[in-house]
Amino acid sequence: MTYKNILVLGGTGFIGQCLVDLLAAQGRRVCVPTRRRERGRELLVLPSVEVVEADIGDPASLAALLAGRDAVINLVGILHDSGAAPRPGMPAGTPATRRYGAAFAAAHVDVPRRLVTACREQAVERVLHVSALGADADGPSAYLRSKADGERVICDAPGIAATVFRPSVVFGSGDHFLNLFATLAAWLPILLIGRPQTRMQPVWVRDLAGAISTALDARATFGQTYEICGPTIYTLQELVQFAARAAGHPRPVVGLPDFLAQALALGFELLPGPTLLSRDNLRSLQIDNIASVQPYQPAPELALHPAPLEPEAALFLAGMHPRTRYDGFRARARR
Ligand SMILES: NC(=O)c1ccc[n+]([C@@H]2O[C@H](COP(=O)([O-])OP(=O)(O)OC[C@H]3O[C@@H](n4cnc5c(N)ncnc54)[C@H](OP(=O)(O)O)[C@@H]3O)[C@@H](O)[C@H]2O)c1
Repeated sequence: MTYKNILVLGGTGFIGQCLVDLLAAQGRRVCVPTRRRERGRELLVLPSVEVVEADIGDPASLAALLAGRDAVINLVGILHDSGAAPRPGMPAGTPATRRYGAAFAAAHVDVPRRLVTACREQAVERVLHVSALGADADGPSAYLRSKADGERVICDAPGIAATVFRPSVVFGSGDHFLNLFATLAAWLPILLIGRPQTRMQPVWVRDLAGAISTALDARATFGQTYEICGPTIYTLQELVQFAARAAGHPRPVVGLPDFLAQALALGFELLPGPTLLSRDNLRSLQIDNIASVQPYQPAPELALHPAPLEPEAALFLAGMHPRTRYDGFRARARR
């Protein structure tokens, strides 16, 4: 079966925009709810894509969004939660808000829970869910614990044909990772990072989007959970060095001892505005973010042939990627 009419939660985000673009190019109709329509402005130009302002926390709104759809893809996620606390190893049954904060619970667990309930009511059986590599109910960070609980909600829901994706760090034009370090390198003479030796296996956003769109119609993926990684393992320090160099600002990258990194992250958490780095992010870095079996072999049904990081990332970090140029034009035109 080809699923033609898709609801994409979190479709305005970095991964979501790439995925929605691809789904539309495949001739599918896509509806993207958002809390602020402005967030989906780049999607508005796509003819088969509808961006609607809606509160997916409201069961009636979610049910209305799902009515008549063939499938739903959930990408809702956040990286920071001011209430996230270091409480690994808590006994089963500990309330979610003590294992992670209210914001992680809302985005990573409540959204999936409401989603599967609404799917059952609206007879939408096909659900694809983007989790995170390393998601673990007993993991070192509140982010990873809440992601694991969200996965469970989706996988345990009766009557749902679910596919779960666990990507490593995702790179691409507009990513939240390489671009952050490239920007910091433009301003700082030296880059200080925590957990420099943590290993990662970055995957290109278009490869992840391709794997999700392939899985959508593929029965072999129903009920499966997939790790999604790139072909190469890097340390965090190597990735930060690469981002700075590719952006034209090569900088010394110095690994901090844990206590200093935690102090730095606390400083970022206390600053007004969006958090750049939190103590919970550092806890996620206590474990490597790489595929559990090496060398990484993507499942054949995903038709995934992951691209290497350097050629593509070097383009957008140097500001030469078409979309980056487009962003520049729009910024200058104040749109
Ligand atoms: N980027 C990575 O490297 C990476 C790696 C592993 C896993 N992931 C996972 O992949 C998914 C997408 O990541 P991304 O990088 O594309 O994220 P993103 O750019 O930050 O976008 C997040 C999306 O989630 C929505 N959202 C956030 N909180 C919400 C809430 N409380 N209620 C409703 N909508 C909410 C936002 O919608 P609005 O339009 O309403 O703001 C936005 O569309 C996330 O689940 C993330 O955990 C990402």
